[in-house]
Amino acid sequence: MSQRLSRAGLCWQGLRLDAESGIFYKGRPSMTQLATIILAAGKGIRMHSDRPKVLHEVAGAAMIAYPIQVSDRLKAQHVVSVLGHGAKAVQDYLKTAPLKVKAKLSFVMQAQQLGTAHAVKQAEAVLGKFKGDVLVLYGDVPLLSVATLKDFIKYHGKEQNVLSVLSADMEDPTGYGRIIRDDRGRVSAIVEQIDATAEQRGISEINSGILLINAQRLFEEVRRIKKSPRKQEYYLTDLIKLLVAQGERVGAVCVQDETEVMGVNNRAELAVANEYMRVLINEHWLAKGVTLTDPYSTYIDSWVSIEKDVSIGPGCTLRGQSVIKSGSRIDVGCVIEDTRIGTDARIAPYSVLEASRVDAGAQIGPFAHLREGSHIGVGAKVGNFVETKKTRLGPGAKANHLTYLGNAKVGEKTNIGAGTITCNYDGVNKYETVIGAGSFIGSDTQLVAPLNLGKGSWVAAGTTVTKDLPAGALAISRTKQVNIKNWSQRVKGLKKKK
Ligand code: UD1
Ligand code: MG
Repeated sequence: MSQRLSRAGLCWQGLRLDAESGIFYKGRPSMTQLATIILAAGKGIRMHSDRPKVLHEVAGAAMIAYPIQVSDRLKAQHVVSVLGHGAKAVQDYLKTAPLKVKAKLSFVMQAQQLGTAHAVKQAEAVLGKFKGDVLVLYGDVPLLSVATLKDFIKYHGKEQNVLSVLSADMEDPTGYGRIIRDDRGRVSAIVEQIDATAEQRGISEINSGILLINAQRLFEEVRRIKKSPRKQEYYLTDLIKLLVAQGERVGAVCVQDETEVMGVNNRAELAVANEYMRVLINEHWLAKGVTLTDPYSTYIDSWVSIEKDVSIGPGCTLRGQSVIKSGSRIDVGCVIEDTRIGTDARIAPYSVLEASRVDAGAQIGPFAHLREGSHIGVGAKVGNFVETKKTRLGPGAKANHLTYLGNAKVGEKTNIGAGTITCNYDGVNKYETVIGAGSFIGSDTQLVAPLNLGKGSWVAAGTTVTKDLPAGALAISRTKQVNIKNWSQRVKGLKKKK
């Protein structure tokens, strides 16, 4: 997509994780065992929020879910999240989030945020005996791809570095730590913005914060890090100086697309991250055989799953854990949340579906509202201005116009006439309406629950049904029609009162 946010920047000696050069794509990834530490204890002051920063969402998933999922796809054995601010909320979220993770998830607490090195140190409680490599990730860097990290790991192995840093060439490097290289281009230090000289601030190669090092060496060196004089924090970036002083090999490699390593610190950056992720997700589904009439106005959350030959019209939003099976068509302006749609279903324009299920070949809308717990059977129809809630509509059943069905079970092939309303609530409790298969409910009917209408029952238009109906019976409760002749002449004869 032309609006991909990549930029061909300059990177030191062209050392870049680059598909074109291909150098980092060859060979097998290192067989060394891997653990990840996800730094997520910070408050995120600039978000101006009561929510911990890492719970703010990108494409419907909290930011912290991304480094966790990525860790799993890198086959990390341990994933250790360092939590502080809002730790309980973060843990609660992760308990219920639909993460499919084989790795062992652990949490360590950093009660006081004394810096990134101090944060990493807390993970020693879990990884103290771990012999493999540790990849440090950030809870507020959601866009980093598995492909980039795989290449980074390969780079680390190939260069035989003791420590590797993922760097980026930033158009505007303000705020980031700068990668300092010596005359021969070797990394000698990382200097934080606050501590950098004017000359160093001119360097555009920045520290993404992502680094890779052997676990034992990491914890050994972290112990040596001293508080920074200015910020009074323990900088993880001081590792570089320490290792270089010991004559160790330290390397930095530039990410191809710097947006991948962008940190989200405020709402504007959150919006950028969302937009970037939206493009990535849409590109993914287009490549998988899904038609998006207007990808620029289509919003699909991370955990949505779509089969091929699904067609999605302009202005649709697919949220949560929705599943759309092949051949289904979702027309303009629909909002679909946590809903499972079977094959070849049709969701006509401007319908809203929440926590529901629509079976194969069913037709919904236009302007329909399926609320939580609706289950629309195979080939059934829910038409315009129909609202359903906790309602099962059997196969081939129809509720085509202007109807409310709440707490109802509607049998196969039953027809619900226009303007039918289940009166499911008496102001205190909710009651169920059961309508047997093959029934015919006439228009403008109120069904006062609890109610049981047998199979093949009939309800005459305009009836208020308050009693159960045996199979095959007709309920009619309207008053007899009276025709008064010459009514208009009588009206004309009346004089207007002054
Ligand atoms: C850090 C790096 C900087 C890099 C930048 C990239 C250091 C000293 N600096 O700076 O070189 O360019 O990230 O975005 O490492 N955190 C904790 N506990 C703490 C402090 C931070 O868990 O005590 C977490 C935060 O929640 C966040 C991450 O670590 O997820 C980075 O912290 P932040 O304060 O944003 O570091 P920066 O100043 O941006
Ligand atoms: Mg930051």
